[in-house]
Amino acid sequence: MNAPSKTWKDVNAVYQIYPRSFQDSNGDGVGDLRGVISRLDYLKGGEGALGVDAIWFSPLFPSPMADFGYDVSNYCDIDPLFGTLDDFKELLAGAHARGIKVMIDFVPNHTSHEHPWFRESKTSRDNPKREYYTWADPKPDGSAPNNWLSIFGGSAWEWDETTGQYYLHTFLKEQPDLNWRNPAVRQEMQSILRFWFDMGVDGIRADAVRWVSKDEHYRDDPKNPAFTDAPNADPFASLLHVQSRFGPHLFEYLRELTDVVEQYPDKIMIFEDYPDGVFTSRDQYLGFYGVNPRVSMPFNFEGIGREFSAPSFRHFITEFQGFLDVDQHTPVYCFGNHDQPRLVSRVGERQARLVAVLQTTLPGLPVVYYGDELGMKNGIIRPSEEQDPLNVIKPGLNQGRDPERTPMQWSADEYAGFSTVKPWLPLAGQHDEVNVATLSQKYDSFLALYTWLLDFRARSDVLKHGGYQTLDSSNPHVFSFVRMHGNEQLMVVLNFSNRRRSYAVPPGSHVLISSQQANPAKISRKHVLKLHPYEAVIVGQMHSA
Ligand code: NOJ
Repeated sequence: MNAPSKTWKDVNAVYQIYPRSFQDSNGDGVGDLRGVISRLDYLKGGEGALGVDAIWFSPLFPSPMADFGYDVSNYCDIDPLFGTLDDFKELLAGAHARGIKVMIDFVPNHTSHEHPWFRESKTSRDNPKREYYTWADPKPDGSAPNNWLSIFGGSAWEWDETTGQYYLHTFLKEQPDLNWRNPAVRQEMQSILRFWFDMGVDGIRADAVRWVSKDEHYRDDPKNPAFTDAPNADPFASLLHVQSRFGPHLFEYLRELTDVVEQYPDKIMIFEDYPDGVFTSRDQYLGFYGVNPRVSMPFNFEGIGREFSAPSFRHFITEFQGFLDVDQHTPVYCFGNHDQPRLVSRVGERQARLVAVLQTTLPGLPVVYYGDELGMKNGIIRPSEEQDPLNVIKPGLNQGRDPERTPMQWSADEYAGFSTVKPWLPLAGQHDEVNVATLSQKYDSFLALYTWLLDFRARSDVLKHGGYQTLDSSNPHVFSFVRMHGNEQLMVVLNFSNRRRSYAVPPGSHVLISSQQANPAKISRKHVLKLHPYEAVIVGQMHSA
């Protein structure tokens, strides 16, 4: 049977741009849309371009920036900090002219407390916008309606003196949760999607979707029996969040959104969802894929934060590939984003290069975070420089996300070519070496590796459309798999250990690329691949690419 045509099936990768940090064009120290326009050639089409087929922007919309744009005060405009709608349209046209698709963020669970809907909603209990949000009476003793917790610290309920009720906020108190049980809210959300699709936007990353449906009776979340009250334990983990999220209507609501997506040709929606212990990953993933696999899919974030070892990575990938319906479901492997410490800082440099090879050779639609292609590290942020409120409201847990949001490093100039003035966050360091201008001159740099991999993937039907099979499933040090399409096969061999390892390959094999370009593994006359510590290679066969 021929596989049904998948949406975005030829896209080699999505590149995430955190707009505050990509390129400043107006000298205010914050990135903006005209800055991105000036860098489009880097993304695709220019000499030595990275070569990505799609970009995703974290929120660009008007916002008081309590959560740096994830607190939206107008879903259908651009924040003046980033530019104007006309700038956005110019960017869209420029991207499309280069064959780059544009994906934007969509924040359906909550708005800013300064959104006109919320301003109205809190004026009185009978305001027409009251039911746009989640309001509830206090308990008889005046305390919050239930024990639900905010991920960003403390109770998820905030008291409103004017109307004598609490409102729900899963994130900051400046981010009140919308009431998705109200059909008017769902209509609004669908209109917002139409607004952007009509303009020509190609895809949507849907934020924090698991929370849009909650228990309608506001029942307490049960205690987490595994929680230990250690000094660095996050109190949010003291409960099992079974009532406050993944409510009974979640997939139905998402389906209403994907019905809109499907009304337009070649558009997609990627759901943000992290695995957790409450629902098995398998059920979660299949639930999200079940919404509408033609146009939507969840991220797979399992490679973030798990043990860096061959058995651990082999396990999650083999299991995930094993329960997907490969003809229908598009995996979206993601190893870094604006909420997670930088890949290099989490796993190390050689290990991060291995992850680059892994991510760009797995099936589906890889999503790469800006700066990871340079091997950028976490920035070191002094308390006086902190921007993200998380370290202030959850002290001692080290959850602040500034380190992974530092300015893109374009050159060895004072502000790394990002800006002409001191940027909103300090540079991550080593920018005299770790920058696009310098690394693009080095054949063995991180950037050269990513550029090669993305170009190869763009041209490879095996990598974009081929099947997947795990090899050698009990090797403690080397994770390997094969991708196959028609008569073509590529073998990917990843040495997760800090020692040299040997790995038998079929006769006629040759190394197409190594993650350590300066000193790639050799294949002996006895067909044994001699891998360096943490080395990853793509092995071709005589008759393959
Ligand atoms: C997930 C986003 O990635 C994160 O940055 C944000 O703070 C929360 N959702 C709330 O919107």
